[in-house]
Amino acid sequence: MAVVAYLNQKGGVGKSSTTHHLAGTLAAMGRRLLLVDADPQSSLTQGLLGPEALDDIDPAETIAAVLRGEDPFPDSVIRPSGISGVDLMPGSQSANDANVPRPWEQDCAAQCRLADVLTELAPRYDLVMIDCPPTLSGCSWAALVAADSLVVPLQAEDYGSQGVRAIQDWIATVRATMNPGLHLAGYLITMFNPRLAIHKAYESRLRATYGSLVFSTMVPYAADFKEAIAARQTLAQYKPKGASAKVVRALAEELMGRLTPAQPETEAA
Ligand SMILES: Nc1ncnc2c1ncn2[C@@H]1O[C@H](COP(=O)(O)OP(=O)(O)O)[C@@H](O)[C@H]1O
Ligand SMILES: [Mg+2]
Repeated sequence: MAVVAYLNQKGGVGKSSTTHHLAGTLAAMGRRLLLVDADPQSSLTQGLLGPEALDDIDPAETIAAVLRGEDPFPDSVIRPSGISGVDLMPGSQSANDANVPRPWEQDCAAQCRLADVLTELAPRYDLVMIDCPPTLSGCSWAALVAADSLVVPLQAEDYGSQGVRAIQDWIATVRATMNPGLHLAGYLITMFNPRLAIHKAYESRLRATYGSLVFSTMVPYAADFKEAIAARQTLAQYKPKGASAKVVRALAEELMGRLTPAQPETEAA
Protein backbone atom coordinates (compact mmCIF):
# COMPACT_ATOMS: atom_id res chain seq x y z
CA MET A 1 0.00 0.00 0.00
CA ALA A 2 1.31 3.45 -0.98
CA VAL A 3 0.39 6.58 0.98
CA VAL A 4 0.39 9.94 -0.84
CA ALA A 5 -0.24 13.30 0.84
CA TYR A 6 -1.34 16.42 -1.06
CA LEU A 7 0.07 19.47 0.69
CA ASN A 8 0.49 23.16 0.09
CA GLN A 9 0.18 25.83 2.73
CA LYS A 10 -1.86 27.87 0.25
CA GLY A 11 -5.61 27.31 0.14
CA GLY A 12 -7.51 27.24 -3.12
CA VAL A 13 -4.78 25.60 -5.21
CA GLY A 14 -6.87 22.55 -6.05
CA LYS A 15 -5.61 20.05 -3.46
CA SER A 16 -9.05 18.73 -2.57
CA SER A 17 -10.50 18.83 -6.10
CA THR A 18 -7.51 17.06 -7.59
CA THR A 19 -7.55 14.40 -4.86
CA HIS A 20 -11.30 13.90 -5.42
CA HIS A 21 -11.06 13.39 -9.19
CA LEU A 22 -7.90 11.29 -9.06
CA ALA A 23 -9.68 8.94 -6.66
CA GLY A 24 -12.47 8.26 -9.17
CA THR A 25 -10.01 7.64 -11.98
CA LEU A 26 -7.66 5.44 -9.96
CA ALA A 27 -10.63 3.38 -8.73
CA ALA A 28 -11.80 2.98 -12.34
CA MET A 29 -8.26 1.75 -13.12
CA GLY A 30 -8.80 -0.98 -10.52
CA ARG A 31 -7.01 0.47 -7.49
CA ARG A 32 -8.53 -0.01 -4.01
CA LEU A 33 -8.43 3.45 -2.47
CA LEU A 34 -8.77 5.12 0.89
CA LEU A 35 -9.15 8.90 0.98
CA VAL A 36 -8.19 10.62 4.22
CA ASP A 37 -9.59 14.10 4.81
CA ALA A 38 -7.00 15.69 7.10
CA ASP A 39 -8.40 19.21 6.64
CA PRO A 40 -10.65 20.38 9.50
CA GLN A 41 -12.55 22.40 6.87
CA SER A 42 -13.41 19.01 5.39
CA SER A 43 -14.08 20.11 1.82
CA LEU A 44 -13.14 16.69 0.46
CA THR A 45 -15.71 15.05 2.74
CA GLN A 46 -18.36 17.60 1.75
CA GLY A 47 -17.58 17.18 -1.95
CA LEU A 48 -18.08 13.43 -1.66
CA LEU A 49 -20.94 13.18 0.82
CA GLY A 50 -22.63 16.58 0.56
CA PRO A 51 -22.39 19.75 2.65
CA GLU A 52 -24.82 18.47 5.27
CA ALA A 53 -22.67 15.39 5.91
CA LEU A 54 -20.47 17.17 8.42
CA ASP A 55 -23.40 17.83 10.73
CA ASP A 56 -24.40 14.18 10.58
CA ILE A 57 -21.03 12.54 11.15
CA ASP A 58 -19.99 11.99 14.76
CA PRO A 59 -16.41 13.30 15.22
CA ALA A 60 -15.69 9.93 16.89
CA GLU A 61 -16.08 8.43 13.40
CA THR A 62 -13.59 10.78 11.72
CA ILE A 63 -9.89 11.55 11.57
CA ALA A 64 -10.40 13.68 14.70
CA ALA A 65 -10.74 10.49 16.76
CA VAL A 66 -7.56 9.08 15.21
CA LEU A 67 -5.54 12.23 15.89
CA ARG A 68 -6.86 12.45 19.44
CA GLY A 69 -5.61 8.94 20.09
CA GLU A 70 -9.00 7.52 20.97
CA ASP A 71 -7.64 4.19 19.83
CA PRO A 72 -10.51 3.53 17.48
CA PHE A 73 -10.92 0.29 15.66
CA PRO A 74 -10.24 1.29 12.03
CA ASP A 75 -13.73 0.33 10.85
CA SER A 76 -15.31 3.03 12.99
CA VAL A 77 -13.39 5.81 11.21
CA ILE A 78 -13.83 4.71 7.60
CA ARG A 79 -16.96 4.62 5.45
CA PRO A 80 -17.90 4.31 1.77
CA SER A 81 -17.18 7.54 -0.15
CA GLY A 82 -20.00 7.20 -2.65
CA ILE A 83 -17.45 6.32 -5.37
CA SER A 84 -17.20 2.64 -6.13
CA GLY A 85 -13.90 1.24 -4.85
CA VAL A 86 -13.12 4.27 -2.68
CA ASP A 87 -13.45 4.50 1.10
CA LEU A 88 -13.21 7.70 3.10
CA MET A 89 -11.82 8.61 6.50
CA PRO A 90 -13.96 11.75 6.92
CA GLY A 91 -12.72 15.10 8.09
CA SER A 92 -14.08 16.97 11.09
CA GLN A 93 -13.79 20.44 12.54
CA SER A 94 -12.80 18.71 15.77
CA ALA A 95 -9.54 17.74 14.09
CA ASN A 96 -8.52 21.35 14.79
CA ASP A 97 -7.69 20.16 18.31
CA ALA A 98 -4.72 18.36 16.75
CA ASN A 99 -3.56 21.51 14.99
CA VAL A 100 -0.93 22.34 17.57
CA PRO A 101 1.64 24.83 16.26
CA ARG A 102 4.83 22.76 16.86
CA PRO A 103 3.61 19.22 16.26
CA TRP A 104 7.12 17.73 16.16
CA GLU A 105 7.40 18.48 19.88
CA GLN A 106 4.61 16.02 20.73
CA ASP A 107 5.63 12.58 21.90
CA CYS A 108 6.37 10.12 19.11
CA ALA A 109 3.25 8.04 19.72
CA ALA A 110 1.02 11.10 19.23
CA GLN A 111 2.77 12.04 15.99
CA CYS A 112 2.31 8.51 14.63
CA ARG A 113 -1.40 8.04 15.33
CA LEU A 114 -2.56 8.44 11.74
CA ALA A 115 0.43 6.44 10.45
CA ASP A 116 -0.39 3.60 12.86
CA VAL A 117 -4.05 3.38 11.81
CA LEU A 118 -3.05 3.38 8.13
CA THR A 119 -0.57 0.58 8.78
CA GLU A 120 -3.41 -1.43 10.29
CA LEU A 121 -5.55 -0.74 7.21
CA ALA A 122 -2.78 -1.54 4.71
CA PRO A 123 -4.04 -4.99 3.62
CA ARG A 124 -7.30 -3.48 2.42
CA TYR A 125 -6.02 -0.78 0.06
CA ASP A 126 -3.57 -0.27 -2.78
CA LEU A 127 -3.36 3.45 -2.26
CA VAL A 128 -4.18 5.99 0.45
CA MET A 129 -4.47 9.67 -0.55
CA ILE A 130 -4.41 12.27 2.23
CA ASP A 131 -5.86 15.72 1.55
CA CYS A 132 -4.11 18.19 3.87
CA PRO A 133 -5.28 21.55 5.20
CA PRO A 134 -3.68 24.72 3.80
CA THR A 135 -1.52 25.07 6.90
CA LEU A 136 1.72 23.58 8.12
CA SER A 137 0.43 22.46 11.50
CA GLY A 138 -0.60 19.32 13.39
CA CYS A 139 -2.98 17.76 10.85
CA SER A 140 -0.51 18.21 7.99
CA TRP A 141 2.32 16.92 10.17
CA ALA A 142 0.38 13.73 10.93
CA ALA A 143 -0.08 13.31 7.17
CA LEU A 144 3.63 13.82 6.45
CA VAL A 145 4.57 11.32 9.14
CA ALA A 146 2.13 8.78 7.64
CA ALA A 147 2.93 9.36 3.94
CA ASP A 148 5.59 7.79 1.81
CA SER A 149 5.10 10.25 -1.06
CA LEU A 150 4.14 13.90 -1.23
CA VAL A 151 2.49 15.82 -4.06
CA VAL A 152 2.60 19.62 -3.90
CA PRO A 153 -0.22 21.10 -5.98
CA LEU A 154 0.35 24.71 -6.94
CA GLN A 155 -0.96 27.29 -9.33
CA ALA A 156 1.35 28.70 -11.97
CA GLU A 157 1.12 32.10 -10.35
CA ASP A 158 3.42 33.95 -8.03
CA TYR A 159 1.04 33.85 -5.13
CA GLY A 160 0.42 30.13 -5.41
CA SER A 161 4.09 29.31 -5.79
CA GLN A 162 5.22 31.09 -2.68
CA GLY A 163 4.44 28.25 -0.31
CA VAL A 164 7.08 26.02 -1.83
CA ARG A 165 10.02 27.10 0.31
CA ALA A 166 8.11 26.54 3.56
CA ILE A 167 7.06 23.07 2.38
CA GLN A 168 10.64 22.20 1.52
CA ASP A 169 11.63 23.16 5.07
CA TRP A 170 8.90 20.90 6.44
CA ILE A 171 9.97 18.00 4.25
CA ALA A 172 13.49 18.44 5.60
CA THR A 173 12.19 18.53 9.19
CA VAL A 174 10.00 15.44 8.84
CA ARG A 175 12.81 13.55 7.09
CA ALA A 176 15.25 14.48 9.86
CA THR A 177 12.85 13.28 12.55
CA MET A 178 9.82 11.01 12.10
CA ASN A 179 9.90 9.93 8.46
CA PRO A 180 13.33 9.71 6.78
CA GLY A 181 11.79 7.92 3.78
CA LEU A 182 9.34 10.66 2.77
CA HIS A 183 9.65 11.04 -1.01
CA LEU A 184 8.69 14.16 -2.95
CA ALA A 185 6.70 12.77 -5.88
CA GLY A 186 6.54 16.21 -7.43
CA TYR A 187 5.07 19.65 -7.90
CA LEU A 188 1.76 19.57 -9.72
CA ILE A 189 0.56 22.63 -11.63
CA THR A 190 -3.20 23.02 -11.21
CA MET A 191 -5.88 25.24 -12.71
CA PHE A 192 -3.63 25.90 -15.67
CA ASN A 193 -4.90 28.13 -18.46
CA PRO A 194 -2.63 27.84 -21.52
CA ARG A 195 -4.14 31.03 -22.95
CA LEU A 196 -2.68 33.09 -20.10
CA ALA A 197 0.84 34.24 -20.84
CA ILE A 198 1.46 34.58 -17.10
CA HIS A 199 0.63 30.89 -16.54
CA LYS A 200 2.98 29.83 -19.31
CA ALA A 201 5.73 32.06 -17.96
CA TYR A 202 5.43 30.56 -14.46
CA GLU A 203 5.25 27.06 -15.84
CA SER A 204 8.56 27.68 -17.63
CA ARG A 205 10.09 29.13 -14.49
CA LEU A 206 8.96 26.22 -12.32
CA ARG A 207 10.29 23.68 -14.80
CA ALA A 208 13.57 25.57 -15.08
CA THR A 209 13.88 25.58 -11.26
CA TYR A 210 12.63 22.10 -10.36
CA GLY A 211 13.15 20.14 -13.58
CA SER A 212 11.63 16.66 -13.59
CA LEU A 213 10.21 17.23 -10.12
CA VAL A 214 7.39 19.12 -11.88
CA PHE A 215 4.68 16.75 -13.16
CA SER A 216 4.52 16.80 -16.97
CA THR A 217 0.73 16.60 -16.69
CA MET A 218 -0.96 19.84 -15.66
CA VAL A 219 -4.49 20.06 -14.31
CA PRO A 220 -6.36 22.49 -16.59
CA TYR A 221 -8.74 25.16 -15.38
CA ALA A 222 -12.12 23.75 -16.43
CA ALA A 223 -15.64 24.22 -15.13
CA ASP A 224 -16.37 20.49 -15.12
CA PHE A 225 -13.95 19.98 -12.19
CA LYS A 226 -16.42 21.96 -10.04
CA GLU A 227 -19.58 20.78 -11.80
CA ALA A 228 -18.75 17.12 -11.21
CA ILE A 229 -18.12 17.75 -7.50
CA ALA A 230 -21.39 19.71 -7.22
CA ALA A 231 -23.07 16.63 -8.72
CA ARG A 232 -21.28 14.45 -6.04
CA GLN A 233 -19.32 12.67 -8.75
CA THR A 234 -15.78 12.44 -10.02
CA LEU A 235 -14.90 13.25 -13.62
CA ALA A 236 -14.49 9.53 -14.29
CA GLN A 237 -18.27 9.20 -13.81
CA TYR A 238 -19.48 12.67 -14.73
CA LYS A 239 -17.90 13.04 -18.17
CA PRO A 240 -15.70 9.98 -18.64
CA LYS A 241 -15.00 10.80 -22.30
CA GLY A 242 -14.37 14.51 -21.76
CA ALA A 243 -11.05 16.30 -22.09
CA SER A 244 -10.78 16.84 -18.32
CA ALA A 245 -11.28 13.15 -17.52
CA LYS A 246 -8.58 12.36 -20.06
CA VAL A 247 -6.12 14.68 -18.33
CA VAL A 248 -6.95 13.13 -14.94
CA ARG A 249 -6.23 9.69 -16.42
CA ALA A 250 -2.85 10.90 -17.67
CA LEU A 251 -2.19 12.39 -14.25
CA ALA A 252 -3.18 9.17 -12.48
CA GLU A 253 -0.75 7.22 -14.64
CA GLU A 254 2.04 9.72 -14.11
CA LEU A 255 1.38 9.69 -10.36
CA MET A 256 1.61 5.89 -10.18
CA GLY A 257 4.95 6.08 -11.97
CA ARG A 258 6.22 8.68 -9.52
CA LEU A 259 5.34 6.86 -6.32
CA THR A 260 8.61 4.97 -6.25
CA PRO A 261 11.62 7.23 -6.56
CA ALA A 262 13.44 6.35 -9.78
CA GLN A 263 16.48 8.41 -8.90
CA PRO A 264 17.69 10.54 -6.01
CA GLU A 265 15.79 13.84 -5.89
CA THR A 266 18.94 15.91 -5.92
CA GLU A 267 19.79 14.47 -9.34
CA ALA A 268 16.23 14.86 -10.57
CA ALA A 269 16.05 18.53 -9.53
N1 LIG B 1 -9.01 22.26 -12.27
C1 LIG B 1 -9.89 23.15 -11.82
N2 LIG B 1 -10.62 23.91 -12.68
C2 LIG B 1 -11.50 24.82 -12.20
N3 LIG B 1 -11.74 25.06 -10.91
C3 LIG B 1 -11.05 24.34 -10.01
C4 LIG B 1 -10.11 23.34 -10.40
N4 LIG B 1 -9.58 22.79 -9.28
C5 LIG B 1 -10.18 23.40 -8.24
N5 LIG B 1 -11.06 24.34 -8.66
C6 LIG B 1 -11.87 25.24 -7.84
O1 LIG B 1 -10.99 26.05 -7.07
C7 LIG B 1 -11.45 26.19 -5.74
C8 LIG B 1 -10.41 25.67 -4.76
O2 LIG B 1 -10.21 24.29 -5.01
P1 LIG B 1 -9.89 23.26 -3.84
O3 LIG B 1 -9.70 21.95 -4.49
O4 LIG B 1 -10.90 23.37 -2.76
O5 LIG B 1 -8.49 23.83 -3.34
P2 LIG B 1 -7.68 23.52 -1.98
O6 LIG B 1 -8.07 22.18 -1.52
O7 LIG B 1 -6.25 23.63 -2.39
O8 LIG B 1 -8.05 24.61 -1.02
C9 LIG B 1 -12.78 25.45 -5.68
O9 LIG B 1 -13.81 26.38 -5.90
C10 LIG B 1 -12.69 24.47 -6.82
O10 LIG B 1 -13.97 24.17 -7.35
MG1 LIG C 1 -8.80 21.65 0.36
